[in-house]
Amino acid sequence: MSTITGILGRPYLSLERHLDLGALDAVHEEICLGLTRVPVDYTGGSHRTMGIMPPSREPEAVVDYGEVIRAMSRDELVRFRDLADDPGSIDLDAPGELEFGEERAHPLSRRQMLYLKYRYRVYFPWKVYYELVPNLRWEDKHLATGKAFTREARAIFPRTVAFLKTLPFEAIGRANILGLEAHDHGTVHRDCDPAEGEPPAHFITLCPRGDKRLFLWDEEAREKVPVAGKAYWFHDGDYHGVDADPFFRYSIRVDGVFKQDFLAALRETAGPR
Ligand SMILES: [Fe+2]
Repeated sequence: MSTITGILGRPYLSLERHLDLGALDAVHEEICLGLTRVPVDYTGGSHRTMGIMPPSREPEAVVDYGEVIRAMSRDELVRFRDLADDPGSIDLDAPGELEFGEERAHPLSRRQMLYLKYRYRVYFPWKVYYELVPNLRWEDKHLATGKAFTREARAIFPRTVAFLKTLPFEAIGRANILGLEAHDHGTVHRDCDPAEGEPPAHFITLCPRGDKRLFLWDEEAREKVPVAGKAYWFHDGDYHGVDADPFFRYSIRVDGVFKQDFLAALRETAGPR
């Protein structure tokens, strides 16, 4: 039996016939050009420490920055802290464990990410990460309160922003561009634990060039289920990863709350398997 939870009885849902994707070619042109003009971050790199990898694939995360930072000597930690954007906010003598990285007390600065890569061989799968609608806490990613497309995103990616606003969301709580460099792979992980019983997070992934080889991972069968197309929704509590390819590719993920009529249309067309 498959360990993939899926969406509405299917491993994932293609959204291609539910969305008007006519603008995607122009969006693609704009994103490729725009990415040359904005500062980008890395993301990923500590999935094993976060405990979100399937056990059978944990060895693939060869160097995980959570483990690297835990193993640092005092001298190394001081050097590492000094590369933070705000070193004064990091008290190395505070009780408890120091937590760095995504969703932790101290996000990594660009310099810290680069240093982890150069000095400690940390692998960051997504080396082009750009937030169009920033979101602080993962559990709030569907909520629009206090959030907006950044001024920079509106200036550099106006067609993209306009297109994302046409998507069938009541509210958008998070939107970002996730790019993988040539030959890099996206480590297999899940974004939440389906055993907690929460309904699947509402989000749309757009891959304007349709060339990102996302797959769901069935841990029981040790099998990949390829996710094809330019627009889809999957259960992010299912393990997922990206196969390596010898070229750059990216997708856009938009989180929020779907409109009821969109959900109803999906339910109607998904039907029985
Ligand atoms: Fe993910």
